[in-house]
Amino acid sequence: MEIRVENGSITEVESDALIVNLFEGVTVPGGATGAVDKALGGMISQLMADGEITGKANSVALLHTHGKIKPKRVLVVGLGKSDEFDYIAIAKASGTAARFLRDKGAKTITSIVHGAGIGGLEPADAARVTVEGAIIGLYKGDLYKTSDDDKNSVDRFTIVESDSAKMEDVTAGAEEGRILAEATNAARTMANEPSNIMTPTTLADHARIVSEEYELGLEILGREEMESLQMGGLLSVANGSAEPPRLIVLSYDAETNDRPTLAIVGKGITFDSGGISIKPSDGMADMKYDMSGAAAVLGAMRAIGELKPNINVLGVIPATENMPSGSAYKPGDVIKMYNGKTVEIVTTDAEGRMILADAMTFALQKSADYVVDIATLTGACVVALGTNITGIMGNDEWLLDALTDAALLAGEQVWELPLPPEYMDIIKSDIADIKNCGPRNGGALTAGLFLQEFAEDKPWVHMDIAGTCDLDKSESHRAKGATGVAVRTLAILALQLGE
Ligand code: BES
Ligand code: MN
Ligand code: ZN
Repeated sequence: MEIRVENGSITEVESDALIVNLFEGVTVPGGATGAVDKALGGMISQLMADGEITGKANSVALLHTHGKIKPKRVLVVGLGKSDEFDYIAIAKASGTAARFLRDKGAKTITSIVHGAGIGGLEPADAARVTVEGAIIGLYKGDLYKTSDDDKNSVDRFTIVESDSAKMEDVTAGAEEGRILAEATNAARTMANEPSNIMTPTTLADHARIVSEEYELGLEILGREEMESLQMGGLLSVANGSAEPPRLIVLSYDAETNDRPTLAIVGKGITFDSGGISIKPSDGMADMKYDMSGAAAVLGAMRAIGELKPNINVLGVIPATENMPSGSAYKPGDVIKMYNGKTVEIVTTDAEGRMILADAMTFALQKSADYVVDIATLTGACVVALGTNITGIMGNDEWLLDALTDAALLAGEQVWELPLPPEYMDIIKSDIADIKNCGPRNGGALTAGLFLQEFAEDKPWVHMDIAGTCDLDKSESHRAKGATGVAVRTLAILALQLGE
């Protein structure tokens, strides 16, 4: 889909449909919506008076323009209450409107920038999120359908800005939105791929494509290199699988020398059966999404390659399946990790932290200054925060704040969970330095505490995306399946740290 920005009057730019908006509680439409209302002879205000258009969040009303203005149809999308308005509301409204119009057969869509008027947001950010919402909203996850019973698609999405003084900001914002949203959708496709396709080898192939297209450094380690480095955590999880493991390393270098290095480390379990501690079969299919952290890192690295922040970024992905077999690691085993620490295996289903720990050590060896890991790590985090909010934990207030700010700009919800020092007792082992898990209670926190042992003294934040990585059912603004969560937050974090 082509993204355009045009300077002019929204009533004059041709399209199959024009998107305008309305806040809940507004009685007289203003701004662009008011101009369209006038051109249509008060059609919008009439429907408002009749209670058919309310401005309620994500409500839609479709009007036919009968040649009164250039766009064939006008869609009024609700932005909700102005005091609950944020970037998430814009992306939802834009995505809802674009999906609705696609399903009505629209091929070309024009839209005003949501949120720059009464919303009071910076034009660049408002344009960015309007474009993000549309591109993310229009994504379809039906990768392997051979019949096209649902073949509607949008060819062009055009932002129309009437104020020429705002054009520069709106154009830059729209371009940033396009980059971030396309990277998000690329991550969604990787995670939506079934595990028979998206193996560790395929994941590495995708990293190669990203590195070539966006001029990033690339290093791929196989089993032999892992053996010579003694990466016990990653190797022991890989032992049960017939698929060879990979440690994928992408690097972006800032233009200026002497910049610090941010490492983003993504869990790349391409299928999590649980291993010998096998999972119940109900819902096991969703464990193809257990490489969503890896997909987020690949998506973020792609966006970073395009947006060029002034900071070095290292993307590290430990990739393997977690499978049961005669060679699989077993409960009771003691594993020597890459950094030399010893881990007693309580359950082979707590595999994510084993591979992440070695990847974090690898990142620190490569002299990372800050480490952020992203992982579908615990069901306990889903119990705590549900499916819209990512859990974050860390050892450094400043980095936690930076990540929280980035998430806010990205329109992604995060919530900090604690790392209580006294809970370390729960994962004390009698035979080794540490156990790979405790009991169910506080499972997200003990997972975080385990990883903290591998962050050494560097600022580190952990993102648990087990709940936010996928959707069971499509929503008005986005399709079911992988969400591409954390791509935008990570890319924006890199931009912010580079400033
Ligand atoms: N990949 C799972 C976590 C997960 C659960 C992701 C639900 C998405 C949805 C992880 O490897 C896992 O199995 N975690 C265990 C940890 C436990 C054994 C300590 C869990 O959460 O049950
Ligand atoms: Mn597991
Ligand atoms: Zn897992």
